[in-house]
Amino acid sequence: MSTTVETVSAAARTAPPAVIVAIDGPSGTGKSSTSKAVAAQLGLSYLDTGAQYRAITWWMLNNGVDVGDPAEIATAAAKPVIVSGTDPTAPTITVDGEDASGPIRTQEVTSKVSAVSAVPEVRTLITGLQRSIAAGAERGIVVEGRDIGTTVLPDADIKIFLTASPEARAARRSGEVKGSDLAATKEALIKRDAADSGRKTSPLAKAADAVEVDTTELTLAQVIECVVTLVGEKQAAK
Ligand code: DC
Repeated sequence: MSTTVETVSAAARTAPPAVIVAIDGPSGTGKSSTSKAVAAQLGLSYLDTGAQYRAITWWMLNNGVDVGDPAEIATAAAKPVIVSGTDPTAPTITVDGEDASGPIRTQEVTSKVSAVSAVPEVRTLITGLQRSIAAGAERGIVVEGRDIGTTVLPDADIKIFLTASPEARAARRSGEVKGSDLAATKEALIKRDAADSGRKTSPLAKAADAVEVDTTELTLAQVIECVVTLVGEKQAAK
């Protein structure tokens, strides 16, 4: 018995303190790749909050909800059951038990997600889900999104706000989607950012205490290294 107690207390002494990392920013700044890599390197959980807004949008499109009507969206918001798997090396998302990881990345979902995610009832529900996932992450978590540092987890241990020029962001997004047109990608991206930044309820915004990292001239490896260093400093200071 005493061996077990000693083993547990030894592990508690050597394990770094749980840390909550909020990573926000517009699309194409490298948020997802950075967040997953940082979480994997530091042994933390990972949550893609954009995927949750995409999942609820996908469900609405499949279930005849008029996504041009905020009242209809609000009424339907609580119906789908969205579950996020938080392993950074294999994140998952299901809606009513069905794997949604592929369909949530379609152009149709991408073009409608800003309208759905702007509805306050949707944000209240998804924010609650995000907070409970973060609270259950024993070793800590990296949560990426648009309003994590400002609204979802305002007490996060460290907040990072990633930026990049619209040209760099469009080039990255365009490279991810086969056969996509660079100019059209840039236009769609700027339009979605404007909608996400301009909405009334918890818009895309940099928290006052966030560290801004401009990724325009940085490689992904450099961004990851920068964030890992910042998180490591916070953990050491805890
Ligand atoms: O990160 P992404 O492109 O997968 O996000 C999809 C959309 O979800 C994005 O246009 C805005 C919305 N979103 C949000 O409103 N709040 C978040 N925390 C994350 C995403």
